[in-house]
Order: sequence, then C-alpha cells, then structure tokens
Amino acid sequence: MAKITFVQPDGASQTVEAREGDSIMQTALAHSIDGIFAECGGAMMCATCHCYIDDDRTGSASEGEEDMLECAEDEVRGTSRLSCQITVTEGLDGLVVHLPVPVE
Ligand code: FES
Repeated sequence: MAKITFVQPDGASQTVEAREGDSIMQTALAHSIDGIFAECGGAMMCATCHCYIDDDRTGSASEGEEDMLECAEDEVRGTSRLSCQITVTEGLDGLVVHLPVPVE
C-alpha cells in the first residue's frame, strides 16, 4: 500500500490508500476523485486522466504519453502526466497528484 494525495485546483486534498500495481488513474477512480475521467480506460487514447506531478519518483513521460498530452483539454505544464501511465509502487508512498482546473 502507498498513500497518494490528490489535490484539487481549489486546494482541497484527499489522501487515499493505493494498491500496488494499480495506476494512479485506477486509484483515483476507485476513490471517486473529481477531475480524473479516464474515458479510454487507460489505453493512452484520451488524456482525460491528465494530472500534474512534480516528483522525480514517477520518472518522465514516454514519447507516446507526451504526444497524447498535447490533446489534453486543460493547461499542459512541464509537470503534466497521464495518470494511467504511472503504476503505484510502495516507493511512491506520499506522492502528491494535482488535478487540473476543469474546462468549462
Ligand atoms: Fe485515457 Fe489515460 S485514461 S489516456
């Protein structure tokens, strides 16, 4: 288990227990975290699982992930990631995931 904290654009945060082997996206859906939709189910085809993570432990986005991030509807930053592409490990305990501002 690893504790992951999701932070909404207004600063509200929720810390949840994540199962190792699940993706950050699956963790968010399992805990009904607002802002992660995952329309493609983790196939890296939608960018509706976009989030911001400023933590070296998650490595960097693959080329395919970077390409898909260009399709994200919300603001893409240097810390942008697709949450379906990050697998939870015990080493990610304490990870903080910021959610983007929803597009109107
Ligand atoms: Fe669709 Fe991550 S869930 S790209």
